[in-house]
Amino acid sequence: MFPLNADSFRHGFYVIGRRGHFLWGTFWGYLRCAWWGVQLGHGCRFHGRARFRRYPGSRVTIGEKCTFLSSPQGNLIGVNRPCMISTMTSRAQVQLGNACGFSGTVIAAFKQVVLGDEVICGANTLITDSDWHPEDPRSGLPLPVIIGNHVWLGVNATILKGVRVGDNSVIGACSVVTHDIPADVIAAGNPCKVIKPLEITSPLAESARGLRLALGAGGAPRR
Ligand SMILES: CC(C)(COP(=O)(O)OP(=O)(O)OC[C@H]1O[C@@H](n2cnc3c(N)ncnc32)[C@H](O)[C@@H]1OP(=O)(O)O)[C@@H](O)C(=O)NCCC(=O)NCCS
Repeated sequence: MFPLNADSFRHGFYVIGRRGHFLWGTFWGYLRCAWWGVQLGHGCRFHGRARFRRYPGSRVTIGEKCTFLSSPQGNLIGVNRPCMISTMTSRAQVQLGNACGFSGTVIAAFKQVVLGDEVICGANTLITDSDWHPEDPRSGLPLPVIIGNHVWLGVNATILKGVRVGDNSVIGACSVVTHDIPADVIAAGNPCKVIKPLEITSPLAESARGLRLALGAGGAPRR
């Protein structure tokens, strides 16, 4: 409990204002998702105005209790754009798990982008399965991006086409991920490489690992 002084007054004011932003943002968030035909689970929260664009015939599904921070005040680490979730072709699919957090995160699918549960996307992260400009012969083909459960993407991380990140792994700030990253590691850099194994796990990651072992598939999910 804070003592009653100018600091606690400022803090209380900030907390009340933040809750107000969430209420207003969440109202608009659910409305925008309904407009765009985005399937949004219960208990999601929005701060600022997330942008959605679902190409006709494509699918965007978002799990329960996800948080979208789309304004600079939403995350003091520095969000410099709204969250933007889009599908770019009629066969594209974006599937986001439960309890994920997004801060100025851009997710765009020409084919498929899948995120597991409890994925933390730091400020201004980009996840895309394509080089965009499909008409340009210098572009490669779109390839699915699959991010496991309880993955943490550091601020400004970029995940490019065809990448799989295994459960529980951490991707360092400003990393550019061009190849698969296994489960339970810290990886960073451009191009992103494994730095060290990770000893800390979550109950969710533990159960996911148990399932992988039971199925005889260690490490990152298989392509
Ligand atoms: C990835 C991270 C969690 C690793 O932290 P850590 O376990 O304490 O690792 P260390 O700081 O000991 O770094 C280990 C090595 O990786 C390198 N490294 C760490 N982060 C890096 C990064 N983002 N890019 C490139 N190299 C990195 C270090 O230089 C060090 O290299 P060295 O062994 O040659 O000296 C941390 O560096 C990071 O990126 N944090 C930012 C998280 C973030 O964005 N949070 C806010 C948004 S949610």
